[in-house]
Amino acid sequence: MSATYELRGNVAVITMNNPPVNGLGHETRLGLTNGVERAQADAAVKAIVITGAGKAFSGGADIREFGTPKALAEPNLLSVILALEASSKPVVAAIHSVCMGGGLELALGCHYRVASPGTQVALPEVKIGLIPGAGGTQRLPRVLGVETALNMIVSGEAVKSEVLAQLPGQRLFHKIIEGDLMVGALAYAAEVADVRPLPLVRDLKVSHPSADAYFQFARNMVGGMSKNFPAPLKCVDAVAASTRLKFDDGMKLERELFTALMFTPESRALRHAFMAERATTKIPDVPADTPVRAVNKLAVIGAGTMGGGIAMNFLNAGVPVVILEMKQEALDKGLAIIRKNYEAQVKKGKLKQDKLDARMALLSTTLDYADLKDADMVIEAVFEDMAVKEKVFQALDAVMKPGAILASNTSTLDVNKIAAFTKRPQDVIGTHFFSPANVMKLLEVVRGEKTAKDVLATVMQLGKKIKKTCVVSGVCDGFIGNRMIEQYSRQAGFLLEEGCTPAQVDKAMEKFGMAMGPFRMGDLAGNDVGWYIRKRRYLEKPNLRYSKTADLLCELGRFGQKTGAGWYDYAPGKRDAIPSKVVTDMIEAHRKTLGITPRKISDDEIVHRLVYALVNEGAKIVDEGIALRASDIDMVYLTGYGFPLHRGGPMCYADTVGLFNVVATMKRFAANPLDDREFWQPAPLLARLAAEGRTFS
Ligand code: NAI
Repeated sequence: MSATYELRGNVAVITMNNPPVNGLGHETRLGLTNGVERAQADAAVKAIVITGAGKAFSGGADIREFGTPKALAEPNLLSVILALEASSKPVVAAIHSVCMGGGLELALGCHYRVASPGTQVALPEVKIGLIPGAGGTQRLPRVLGVETALNMIVSGEAVKSEVLAQLPGQRLFHKIIEGDLMVGALAYAAEVADVRPLPLVRDLKVSHPSADAYFQFARNMVGGMSKNFPAPLKCVDAVAASTRLKFDDGMKLERELFTALMFTPESRALRHAFMAERATTKIPDVPADTPVRAVNKLAVIGAGTMGGGIAMNFLNAGVPVVILEMKQEALDKGLAIIRKNYEAQVKKGKLKQDKLDARMALLSTTLDYADLKDADMVIEAVFEDMAVKEKVFQALDAVMKPGAILASNTSTLDVNKIAAFTKRPQDVIGTHFFSPANVMKLLEVVRGEKTAKDVLATVMQLGKKIKKTCVVSGVCDGFIGNRMIEQYSRQAGFLLEEGCTPAQVDKAMEKFGMAMGPFRMGDLAGNDVGWYIRKRRYLEKPNLRYSKTADLLCELGRFGQKTGAGWYDYAPGKRDAIPSKVVTDMIEAHRKTLGITPRKISDDEIVHRLVYALVNEGAKIVDEGIALRASDIDMVYLTGYGFPLHRGGPMCYADTVGLFNVVATMKRFAANPLDDREFWQPAPLLARLAAEGRTFS
């Protein structure tokens, strides 16, 4: 039973005990109802205290039960709360540390609530596309007032217990207990043991002096801020109902809204992303208790675009960094950019000056490899050239202390080859940051053939410390993200040849929800990067079909924003993409040389060709074991490539459409003589799952 029962004098103490956060799984729920029943039956018991063991009162639903029959098994949370309300003896919730979601709803079903200061209190359901489903939307307004409750429910953000306790008229907390919570809770239980009738939150009155105007205002605000997500507006509806309907009718409405949201693709996508994020840390052959190496000092090689951003991540986390360059000027330039980035944050009020000073004080520079000998880890971010990497890794092998981790930020080169430049390939790993490295959440952790398990475990833990979403990738050209984006870009090129303009493709993708369409993205990242990669690729695979349009663009010197022109024109100093006559003429001329008569292409076709290109390559990546699971691919796209969260990532989107339908559409694309027939053969994994009526997840 995941809850214990003990007698403390004439008070029964029920302690939820389901680590790590006392999630309200089936066993815990049973433990609660059994405990309440036992206390009713024992004439010696005068009152009941409910609390949580360890690090939380309760974090809410047990996410391990999501989607399993146990989640719905009786007693469900609503039944538990009814049992608490029905208790003939006062029930006191003794709340500490974390009280969220179902945990807070449980507490609201108790007659009294006492709490330690510093407790994080929240109803975060909206973050997974839902509304609270066990009375939160009806009870929280009754104890905190409509406006505070709605703010908490719509944002899902946590508020500290002592802050809530200070709100005038609040009835959430009967007492804030400094010092030992159990001592205070037992004393409080003794105080209220004989009070009758027992107070119930459901009996409290709730109203708003100008309800209609307030809720209209709330709907406008919330609707504007949550375009792609239905849940926030339903939060408003549910809270509004608390002022309008009788308690039980409000509960009924809450349940209806909750159940309807559960089946929306948006909630499915958010729940998927929530679980996917947690899954990324699980590596089957590297258990969670794998010992890690201490990284107290970091070295970075190269103070360019990536080296500077990478260094900032570690400075922000309080880790001292030494940067090595070839020339003093490069160091000075790199350092100035780091300082400028921090100063911009200070100007915006996001960083205090003393923090800036502290971070810069952790940073040192050198031109001499000997100065790296006390670093526990080094990240190389020099030019993307194997010969340069070879020199650097040989130098590192010579000076770094035994056991130091040697990482490369290469975006395309073979990490196994880089490891072979050293006599310690087990200590070598890829850490592929995304630009700007101090901002982007994604870190692809590239596991080489010989990378030691503890090195992988250390880097995953370090990634978490610098607040990245770490996804493990095997070694292959482009790793997970860029290998897939290459197929997406190829399709974008074909679309231009067949009749689209860059703006039409970008608009369709942005309407689908991508942060940026492929051509705007190319202009931002620099079209020359892909040009360079294609030159190499099509030397290796001369028969691979691709559109030469992007090469022609680069031949015109239109590399993107950095050259003031790319797929679009740019006014000096501005980033607005203006459709370009030069580019349209260039595309038309190119079509003529190919003998193509342009056709009208629908937004649907644009979206599906680009997204299914990602999906098919993603399926190959899972099949080859480059990615550990399909949901890792989704995390790469959600955190590194601006894929819309409400779609859950490319693989989740394909699941939502249905893999059978995806494959059927791909077959149609394969019949297009201007497309790459070979590419649209479904990847074996995709074909298999589609045939069996299964999904990636
Ligand atoms: P960058 O050209 O901005 O910076 C490279 C720096 O390395 C320069 O400051 C250069 O002086 C220095 N350098 C070159 N050879 C050196 C040596 N032997 N010893 C010490 N310093 C040396 O290049 P960027 O963009 O920062 O790229 C660095 C690495 O990161 C490359 O492997 C690249 O593929 C990778 N990468 C780049 C991304 C991007 O968006 N720029 C994204 C992800 C990875």
